[in-house]
Formats: sequence, structure tokens, C-alpha cells
Amino acid sequence: MESNPTGSPGMNKFKDARSPETHVNKRQAPDSHCGTDAARARWTILRQVLRQKQLDNVNVQSVSVRRFSSFNLFSRAEVPSLESDGPSDGRWIEYRSACFPQYSALIRDSQGPIKMEEVLNSFDNTGNVCVWPSEEVMTYYCLKNRHMFMGSSVCELGGGMTCLAGLMIAVCADVKEVLLSDGNEKAIENVRGVIERNRQAGMFTCTNVSSRVVRWDSERDVAAMEGRFDVVMCADCLFLDQYRACLVDALRRLLRPDGTALVFAPTRGDTLTEFCRLAERAGLLVCRYDNYDSIIWDLHIKMKREGKEAYDENIHYPVLLTLTHIPSPHLL
Ligand SMILES: C[S@@+](CC[C@H](N)C(=O)[O-])C[C@H]1O[C@@H](n2cnc3c(N)ncnc32)[C@H](O)[C@@H]1O
Repeated sequence: MESNPTGSPGMNKFKDARSPETHVNKRQAPDSHCGTDAARARWTILRQVLRQKQLDNVNVQSVSVRRFSSFNLFSRAEVPSLESDGPSDGRWIEYRSACFPQYSALIRDSQGPIKMEEVLNSFDNTGNVCVWPSEEVMTYYCLKNRHMFMGSSVCELGGGMTCLAGLMIAVCADVKEVLLSDGNEKAIENVRGVIERNRQAGMFTCTNVSSRVVRWDSERDVAAMEGRFDVVMCADCLFLDQYRACLVDALRRLLRPDGTALVFAPTRGDTLTEFCRLAERAGLLVCRYDNYDSIIWDLHIKMKREGKEAYDENIHYPVLLTLTHIPSPHLL
């Protein structure tokens, strides 16, 4: 049976999971993105990006840094730049959902090659490379379950240079507010422009859409938004050993008492299991869903069957975790 974390309505709209899988560690092949190898993996990606002199094709860009780049849940079409855009400001791409074609958003998915001084002087640049498959799947999932967000305050953490999932919620759902965030200044500079362009194009259903730099490890950043959100979400943010505990803490503190965190991430060795362990230790209820959507599951099976060379579920298939506060006994 497919377990559906958003299956039924209720006070906590994401809470009534029917048959979540426990997050018992399924041993995976060693993964170059986990443990102490995480930094090496990031540098490998960045080295490849730095080597690219000029990327003049969006498709080339996304496949050149990874073997498997996308579940193809969105069509991508280049749209004209704005007069105010400089030549190195990247290209504007319309992302349109293949399953829900009435929904699209404009994103600027590259501001040109990442410069060496940016790599050295700025914080983690993995969100400035591309929209990663977990973000793509999270975006699809949010579109499909858009009714669940109605009236909610939503925050995306670690959304990278597009925060595509949060952006699409602002397009498709009648939400109270959407805050798009990342710890990287350059990513948020891009997101600021993305919000402005979508606002000007009349794409948003939600009027209260904003962005800001939020570092999970910054007490000031987290304290400023404590208990504010019904939904906090992130994609592919669990592989950084040094920030995993801070991310758990930020998710826990940003959520309202009856809120839900949606976390999409590949298992990447033991990193997802380790995140679950930390979250439970922090007093959160963690549910893991491997088969959370029949379309995504079918794609996954197809990829495994046909795309062995390119597709490695350990680093490409996003598992869904929901995190909620455990209600105190007197409220039960
Ligand atoms: C692999 S990228 C994922 C980006 C985007 N969610 C996606 O899947 O396309 C990880 C993101 O986490 C952000 N990040 C890493 N550590 C962080 C921290 N301590 N605080 C805030 N953001 C952080 C990085 O800036 C980066 O954008």
C-alpha cells in the first residue's frame, strides 16, 4: 500500500500518516557525499562548475555537473531577459509543471559560472549550481498537495538559488505567507530577483512572498522566526555533517506547535538516518515515506530498471520525511 503523508484533513494537515516506513537504516553502498567525504564531493562539483568557461545551454548545465539531473517533472523554456538584466545575470527560464501545466514560475537558474573568490569567500555554494532532483520532486509534491497549504505560513530552508518549491507554493496555493531562504547570500540575491520578476508577471496567488538569508546555525536568524510557520520544508540539505544538528534545531524551533516539516532528501549513505536520529533525539516525531507518490515511485522504478549507469537511488531518489512536535500528554 502506498503510504500517503498528506492523506487526510485534520488540525495538522500533514500529520495523519497511514503507514509510514520506519527510518530503520537500510544499508546502502558507500556514498561519496556522506561523512567526511561530503566536503570532497562539494569541491568536486564546484571544480566542475569552475572549469566550465561559459554555459550557453541550460540542459548542458544541469547534466554536466551530475550524471542524473532531473526526473523531468517540469518543462523548461527560456524567456527573454529584462532590460535591467546585465549580460552575466543568467537566463530566465519558465518552469512549467508537466503534471499540472496550469502552474508555472519564472526562475533565473544561473548567474554564470561561480567565481573562485565566491567559492573561497562565501558560504556553501551547492545551492548555486542547479535545481537538484530533491527540490524538483518537492516542488511537484507541493503542487499536487496544494490544497494542504491553504491559509498556512510556509518557510523553505536551504532552497538554493531558486527556492523552486516555495516559489511554486506562492503560485499555486492560497497561503498566508511564503518565506524563501538559504544561508548563501548569492543564492538569496538571485531569489530576490526571482520573486520580483514573478510578482511583476502576476504569477503569485499569495501576496506575502519574501526572501532572506537564514543560517540554521545562526541563533539570531532562528530566534527571529521562532514558532512562526505551519510548514517548514527543505530539499537535499541533510548531507552536511556540521550543520545537521542545527538544521534539526531550526526546523523544530521555526514550526508552530501543530506545524509540520517536510524534508525531501536522498539517503546518501547514513546521512538521512543520522538526521532522523537527531530529530527524534530533539523530541520530534519522524515519519519516513519511501513510496509517497505513485508517479514518482513509478519513475524511480523505471530509472532503476533502465538507467542503471546514471541513476543511483542512494544519491538521487528523494525520500520524504515529515517531522512534527510530539503533543504534550495533557493535550492528547
Ligand atoms: C544541495 S543544496 C540544495 C539546494 C536546493 N534545496 C536544491 O535542492 O536545489 C544545499 C543548500 O543548503 C544550504 N545550506 C547549507 N548549510 C546551510 C546552513 N547552515 N544554513 C542555511 N543554509 C545552508 C546551501 O547554501 C545550499 O543552498
